Amino acid sequence: MAERLHVVLARAGIASRRHAENLISQGRVTVNGEVVVKPGIRVTQGKDTIRVDGHPVHRYDPPTTVVLNKPRGVVTTARDPRNRPTAVQLVEVLGLRLFPVGRLDYATEGLLLLTNDGQLAHRLQHPRFGVEKTYEAKVKGDPPAAKLSRLRTGVLLEGRRTAPARVRRLKRTAKNTWLEITIKEGRNRQVRRMCAAVGHPVLKLKRTGYGPLRLGGLKPGAFRELSRRELGLLRKACGAPVDGGQEKTP
Ligand code: URA
Repeated sequence: MAERLHVVLARAGIASRRHAENLISQGRVTVNGEVVVKPGIRVTQGKDTIRVDGHPVHRYDPPTTVVLNKPRGVVTTARDPRNRPTAVQLVEVLGLRLFPVGRLDYATEGLLLLTNDGQLAHRLQHPRFGVEKTYEAKVKGDPPAAKLSRLRTGVLLEGRRTAPARVRRLKRTAKNTWLEITIKEGRNRQVRRMCAAVGHPVLKLKRTGYGPLRLGGLKPGAFRELSRRELGLLRKACGAPVDGGQEKTP
């Protein structure tokens, strides 16, 4: 993505945007070996070589985690062979390279975390840390108590039982029922497959919670950066150092 030179310098921690403009007008910045004096020039990191006083500028992105309300009809993979919109595109305006924490189906709406903190992403997804994910599922029909109980204790998916889940009925309409389902695993299409396995296919699915975080009033397509407090709670939920300190690669 092409960005303005002084913005790139500021994000790399070289100087404030204003000071970066001065560095540029003083002729101390080169792009691909040429001195540039216009701060507004656009550069692409990874493609253009930027130097200040001859020293190469390396990209520095501050650790950032955002919560997005992924709309239906958006994929969580980095690229889509069918050119459908991606969650990464929705947060691109931040000018940071963020990637989704886990997956949400194309048809699923709701809370999706995107981050550039690889260690945090790893811990949040690894079953060992058992971070809870909460969903609201509109299912066909009205599952009786025995079926809800099966969902809670575990159903067989490809020969492997799902871990215990919390399930409660939220409301009923004439033909369907809304359930709240909280799971600790993240198997592929898990909630849809669990409900189908007990004979009540999912018609609509929304993730409303991830560990201590809640989607709240965030509209589909909107996102926000986590507050310090939320980030602290999230790190605690997966046993990551709460001060955000760097961990060794597992
Ligand atoms: N379970 C599903 O079935 N789909 C999702 O997108 C997330 C959990």
